Amino acid sequence: MLSQEENDLLCCTGPGTPMGNLFRRFWLPVALSRELPKPDCPPVRMRILSEDLIAFRNTNGKVGLLSRYCPHRGASLFFGRNEEGGLRCVYHGWKFDTTGVCIDMPNEPAECSFKHKIRQTAYPTREAGGVIWAYMGPQEIMPELPQLEWTLVPQNHVYVHKRFQHCNYLQNVEGEVDSSHVSFLHREFRPEKFNAAVAGQVLLAQAKDTAPRFLVQETEYGLAIGARRNWDADQYYWRVTKFLMPSFTLIPSEAGAPINFTAAVPVDDKNMVGFTVTWLPDRPLADDDISTIESWTGAYAEVDPKTFEPIASRANDYLLDRAKQRTENFTGMRGIREQDIAVQEDQFGGPVTDRTKEHLATSDTGVITLRRRLLNSVRNFQQGQQPPEPRKATAYRVRPIADIAYRNLSLDEVLDSGDLDLARSEV
Ligand code: FES
Ligand SMILES: [Fe+2]
Repeated sequence: MLSQEENDLLCCTGPGTPMGNLFRRFWLPVALSRELPKPDCPPVRMRILSEDLIAFRNTNGKVGLLSRYCPHRGASLFFGRNEEGGLRCVYHGWKFDTTGVCIDMPNEPAECSFKHKIRQTAYPTREAGGVIWAYMGPQEIMPELPQLEWTLVPQNHVYVHKRFQHCNYLQNVEGEVDSSHVSFLHREFRPEKFNAAVAGQVLLAQAKDTAPRFLVQETEYGLAIGARRNWDADQYYWRVTKFLMPSFTLIPSEAGAPINFTAAVPVDDKNMVGFTVTWLPDRPLADDDISTIESWTGAYAEVDPKTFEPIASRANDYLLDRAKQRTENFTGMRGIREQDIAVQEDQFGGPVTDRTKEHLATSDTGVITLRRRLLNSVRNFQQGQQPPEPRKATAYRVRPIADIAYRNLSLDEVLDSGDLDLARSEV
């Protein structure tokens, strides 16, 4: 349970809010590179952290991210012409480059110097892992991109996906770190459907222990959240989810299976854009891996390819099928991501859930620790302390863990064995 003040502090990310300012110290994924497929292609509008933006790829292939409304008289640059090194407003022809400089003002006399005084808000961008990243914070302390493994391996090892979700970002991140729900919300009644690539389902189902003990460790990047289930007399089944500041997670899958990353980026306080990434460190994704992903039964929701809106939505009760709920799986909904979206979008109090009325139990330890970590960060930040994580780009080179280990191993030792795997890889 949180106080109303704490809930607001965590959930509000617009300009000038404490959490909004904290998010603006991090590089954030904001769009897929393929949404801007070639130089001078049509621009893409977006809203991130309650700011209306327009992204475009200029003639040289560089991505610009500008405030959406023209500084002249406020027309939307979405209607703009993307041509010859800049985006031109269609209302009176003012033209801006990727840094926001006004490079042409054709409705003013040539000798007029007004254009040199005009600058549109522009945010730096990078491209890595098939994703466009933006940094919306103070330029003088811009960090380097976090060294996430999937941004460093060849692109054919990686599948990236974007969806909109209509709730506050925190509802999604809380679901990602909550290993306890996996035994229920994502329970599958038909063993032949278990898939190691999907949330480590095979071992999880075999573990038969639905009440994991949570052990959490603070790390340089965020949190390692261990959920430990009984396996046999000598061993435990561990799922260690990694939470990476400010709103990223690495979801456990079994050794050798594709690895999953998620990011929840606030569109505004009531909506978010979710990025899910699957990658293999050692080989390209095969057709089989891609058809598993595109069966939409796992960590991916099927979306409309143009709008990125999930097909299973609140408007159609997430395609809930009561017959399927009796015989096939716990929810009667198709896929893991679709199940997650259903429970996250429709929580008590609406798109920003009311956390003053909850009853948290021991199985909520991951969620409680996540909130504490974020509250500490934002409070330290309010008192003038810069968040340390953006300066730790290499600390983001971690993987989640789903494995069986002897009972005498501590979370530390389990983490060490996971990190050894990463050290051995070629990244
Ligand atoms: S409103 Fe954009 S040029 Fe006038
Ligand atoms: Fe889930």
